[in-house]
Amino acid sequence: MGFRPRHRSYFVVKQKAERGYFLSKNAVLIYLWKFIKTSGRLKEMPNDPTPPLNEVADLREWKRRLSLLLDYTRQMSLRKDLDSLLGVVVDSAREILQAERCSVFILDKKKNELWSRVATGGHTIRIPADRGIVGQSILERRVINIVDAYADKRFNPEVDRASGYRTQSLLTAPLAKMRGDVIGALQVLNKKGGPFQENDEKMFILFAEQAASAVANAQLHDDLQTAYKDTIFRLAAAAEFKDHDTRLHLERVSRYSRLIAGAAGQDEEWCERLALASPMHDIGKLGVPDAILKKPGKLDESEWKEMYRHPNYGADILANSENELLLMSERVARGHHEKWDGTGYPSKLKGDAIPLEARIVALADVFDALTSRRCYKSAFSLPDALKIIYEGAGKHFDPTLVEAFKRVASNIIQVMETFADRPLDPPPLPAAPKTYNIE
Ligand code: C2E
Ligand code: SIN
Ligand code: SIN
Ligand code: FE
Repeated sequence: MGFRPRHRSYFVVKQKAERGYFLSKNAVLIYLWKFIKTSGRLKEMPNDPTPPLNEVADLREWKRRLSLLLDYTRQMSLRKDLDSLLGVVVDSAREILQAERCSVFILDKKKNELWSRVATGGHTIRIPADRGIVGQSILERRVINIVDAYADKRFNPEVDRASGYRTQSLLTAPLAKMRGDVIGALQVLNKKGGPFQENDEKMFILFAEQAASAVANAQLHDDLQTAYKDTIFRLAAAAEFKDHDTRLHLERVSRYSRLIAGAAGQDEEWCERLALASPMHDIGKLGVPDAILKKPGKLDESEWKEMYRHPNYGADILANSENELLLMSERVARGHHEKWDGTGYPSKLKGDAIPLEARIVALADVFDALTSRRCYKSAFSLPDALKIIYEGAGKHFDPTLVEAFKRVASNIIQVMETFADRPLDPPPLPAAPKTYNIE
């Protein structure tokens, strides 16, 4: 009854394992079960001679590995972003297989290339996806165990050259879910105390399968985040009826807002939400006639009346959602032209009555408006823009946030430079006006 060691599937599994084939999770479990059962039998039978020392050591090693695998699988499943997940994959593979190094290669299907970042600390290597040991491991979907890398023709010393590392023994497995596509490869380098053994190969298969699941999930999460962000930015860009410059303006305001929020002590999740909510601050400009938005000169009284409506107009578009991001966008849209001293619009809110997110975006938005060229003004120099911002503390802006701005000013300037608008095609406008009044 139950599982018999001579069961046919055992042979299939064993044979596959010996040939380095990919095992299904069930097959691995059966295999492990059989392994444990066999070892257990040794204990149950008092007449049996004491098991050879190396078998006891093997068993201990398996136990160590399985418990690490369980720990790390849990940790991997908790990582949603790819970079930090890859960090866990690398650390756990090294520990479980007692290897000096681990590299994760992720397949870029469009380019038919593999990239690897973690192994070299920040620096990304790219290699063709169908060549070398990694390529073969992926194409044939099997583990490749190499005792001496430099004696093997398939070994590509490029990676060593890029990382300044000397590879000796090398174990490579494809990263693939059970019946899923290959999404990359995993490589452990330089086993401590000798080359990789057959047991290492089996363990590595098991590990790579778990890692592949986690990586696939993280990639899905990344894709969704990117699609989400893209949609938001497109929507917000539509509101300003112009393309290129707006996209950069929104990117800058988003990044400034995140930096200020972080410096003001908001947690990472809140900052991330604000980075996504802030691009929608001017979505209400959809309701402002183009002729006003694009007027090269100052607005007259009736034009300002229209302009004053854009915060509420935008907030109404975003209102009544259950989604926290949209709710935050609504508060940002409605409050981003309020001023700390109560002289802003549309509601003349004062101080803390203005939601924090709106106070942050106000600062980010004005800094960007000042340092950018607009159809109605040219850009201020950076010192002039900073002067206006700093002098606005306690009047236009929350003074605490102006302090936060100062603490991250160098990061803000870096964003400004990285995401600068292209050099203007039309001739430059006359110098910026010295004073700027709403009236
Ligand atoms: P915007 O161009 O994105 O400017 C956002 C905010 O940045 C402005 O809000 C204002 O607080 C600040 N800002 C922009 N330029 C200057 C400046 O030269 N000096 C100073 N001290 N602050 C500046 P505001 O004033 O409520 O304007 C809201 C929106 O109304 C502007 O968004 C823009 O779309 C429009 N707008 C404002 N003034 C004019 C103008 O003279 N002509 C035209 N065509 N549109 C204007
Ligand atoms: C992030 O910026 O942390 C995630 C959003 C993205 O996918 O760009
Ligand atoms: C985001 O990060 O998700 C929004 C844009 C940015 O600041 O990167
Ligand atoms: Fe606005």
